[in-house]
Amino acid sequence: MSSVGRNEFLARLRELYERWGANRYDEQVSQLEHAVQCAHHARIDGADAALVVATLLHDIGHLLALENSDGSVDVSVNDTHEATGAAYLARHFSPAVTAPIALHVEAKRYLCTVEDDYFASLSVGSVRSLAVQGGRMSPDEVERFQRHPAAERAVALRRWDERGKSLTPSGLSFDDFASELLAVSTDVT
Ligand SMILES: [Fe+2]
Ligand SMILES: [Fe+2]
Repeated sequence: MSSVGRNEFLARLRELYERWGANRYDEQVSQLEHAVQCAHHARIDGADAALVVATLLHDIGHLLALENSDGSVDVSVNDTHEATGAAYLARHFSPAVTAPIALHVEAKRYLCTVEDDYFASLSVGSVRSLAVQGGRMSPDEVERFQRHPAAERAVALRRWDERGKSLTPSGLSFDDFASELLAVSTDVT
C-alpha cells in the first residue's frame, strides 16, 4: 500500500476544508467556522493538543461525504460521519484524537439521555440528525458508553460541538491550529 507522509496528509486535510469548509451541511454555521470555533473553545478550556485536534476535525466525515458526493447532502440518512472521519484519520493520529471523534455522536445521544436540559440546547440540525442517529440511549447503552475509556473526552468534545455554532465570524482559520496538528500527527501510526 502506498503511504502518505504526515505533511502531505496535513496538506490534504487543509485542502478538504478549503474545498468544502463553506458548506453548511445541515447547520446555519459553515463547516469551517464550526470546526475552528469548537477547537477554539477546547483550547481556551485547557484541552490537551490531541483533544483540540479531535475537536477541530470531529466533523471531517461530513467533508469526506461532500467530497464523495460532489457536494450533495441528504440529511435524511445517517452518514455515520463519526466513523468515516475517525477511520480516515487513523493512520496519522492516535486514538487520543480518533476515539473522541468516533464517539461524538454517541456522546450527544448520551447527554440527551442523562441531562434534562441538554436536548433543549441543541441546534435544529442537531435535533434533526439525532433522530437518524438513534435518538436517546437505552439504560444498557448508557452503561456501555460510560465504560468506554474515551467517554469523558467524547463528552467534552460534544459540549464544545454545541458551542461552536455562532453566526458571528470568529476570525480564526484552519492554519491557526497548525501547531497542534503538527504536535499530535505522525507519519504512520
Ligand atoms: Fe458531528
Ligand atoms: Fe459538529
